[in-house]
Amino acid sequence: MSDTASTRATRNTPDRRPLVSAPDLLSSLVPLLADWVPRQRWFAGKGRLVTGFSLLSATELLPCTGDGTAPGLLQLLVRAQQSAPPSRTPAGGDRYQLLLGVHPAPPPQLAPAVIGRPGGGPLRGRTVYDALLDSRLCGLLLERLRVPGRLGALRFCREPDAVIPSGLPGRPIAVEQSNSSIVYGDSFILKVFRRIEPGINPDLELPRALADAKCARVPAPAAWFESAAPDEGGEPTTLGVLQPFLPGSADGWQLALNALAVRADFTGSARALGHATAEVHTALAQTLPTTELRRPQLEVIAAQMTERLTATARAVPVLQPYRARLRTAFDALAAIGHDGRSWAAQRIHGDLHLGQTLRSADEGRWSLIDFEGEPARPLAERRRPQPAVRDVAAMLRSFDYAARSGPAGGDPWSLEWARRTRDAYCLGYAEAGGLDPRSAPELMRAYETDKAVYEVLYEARHRPDWLAVPMAAIRRLAAGGERAVGSDGAGPSRAAGPDGRG
Ligand SMILES: Nc1ncnc2c1ncn2[C@@H]1O[C@H](COP(=O)(O)OP(=O)(O)O)[C@@H](O)[C@H]1O
Ligand SMILES: [Mg+2]
Repeated sequence: MSDTASTRATRNTPDRRPLVSAPDLLSSLVPLLADWVPRQRWFAGKGRLVTGFSLLSATELLPCTGDGTAPGLLQLLVRAQQSAPPSRTPAGGDRYQLLLGVHPAPPPQLAPAVIGRPGGGPLRGRTVYDALLDSRLCGLLLERLRVPGRLGALRFCREPDAVIPSGLPGRPIAVEQSNSSIVYGDSFILKVFRRIEPGINPDLELPRALADAKCARVPAPAAWFESAAPDEGGEPTTLGVLQPFLPGSADGWQLALNALAVRADFTGSARALGHATAEVHTALAQTLPTTELRRPQLEVIAAQMTERLTATARAVPVLQPYRARLRTAFDALAAIGHDGRSWAAQRIHGDLHLGQTLRSADEGRWSLIDFEGEPARPLAERRRPQPAVRDVAAMLRSFDYAARSGPAGGDPWSLEWARRTRDAYCLGYAEAGGLDPRSAPELMRAYETDKAVYEVLYEARHRPDWLAVPMAAIRRLAAGGERAVGSDGAGPSRAAGPDGRG
């Protein structure tokens, strides 16, 4: 931030009532937000009416009610109240982070960012817009991250050895995603979390742990911002993370589709990706808590999977005929514990698919990104140690998604492509010190089945045209666990898989 901007941000005119404590701040914004928030890609409560908002905190990062023509910047944490919340929604509704620009008359190029003009309250007569579409306000956020310290309800933190140049131009990334990211001069990427759960976000926690462990497969966080006040559990709530940007890299989903389009082999890439995954798993197991899953824990996991299957078969009747057969996969998982065996659990990626991998242009080196875990699951569950094969099973499902999309998707050649790609990935994983997934058939089958069930529900709800993809895997998995790994080619997904996000 320029000197002027930083002075403006911290100065409080004595006779000016702080905007953030104005009682009608939120009520004046509600009509605008009720229309704008549900239309955002990151809004998780689609399909249910937003009945109101409540304000959790507000921080004026730049004054919003000044006389001049400089933009103001307001950070809000709000709860969105909705009709008929599903059981996963926290009491009172999901929390969201909003970054709002405020301007008496924004320049025409900001027209697509405009949210509206409050009819009353402290911002009356000004235009409120999406601050992350304004390069000037994106620049201000980066400046804040360069200078650690507290501001209002927020705390800005930086790794002591991180070098963050000033004045890098910021632009939002174009890809559809579940959060909002800004790229600064091809050097850094700031992910601003949108749906917020109290506590440390694994997308900060795990990459920091991996950086400590000297694992270079994940861009190491340089800075982040969080709530200044700890949550009920005594932890700050992570709100955004700045990481090095990997310029010129391509994501694994696109690379796999490119290979399929020209009928090219992908086994070399898949094997290298298996190496990268195993290296990350090994480092996570070395630095973060691990545990042994014994009979009671395995029973609970199997019961949760069975419950998801039952609920999904109720919601998506085409799954019903396969339910009993699929259930045997979960019974087999519980049986591991009955036999007195146990299984190692550790922190994992939690939402691994081709869209969460990047390959560098120069040396073809794979990195893994986006350690948030499956966004639909509660944070406490996402941060729990789990069998590492869950990530492997998820990646195998992604290969299946890739092989079954595109014009020739699902033809014999692409299914054979998926089978070879799966085998190469598992081989690479084992070569780099991971447990050979093929030596854990019960776990692989259970986790692949659970993932495919999740995909069925997602596709039935959001993209019925894609339902055939997980249903093909369901038929294979129901037909028998004996070749659950390495049969017709299932692999996970979400770059274009359930959730359709990257
Ligand atoms: N360090 C990075 N370098 C280059 N591109 C990145 C980096 N991190 C993320 N991206 C790009 O941003 C996209 C979204 O990032 P991701 O962390 O997966 O966000 P989301 O949680 O919204 O899915 C990725 O698919 C990738 O294209
Ligand atoms: Mg992602």
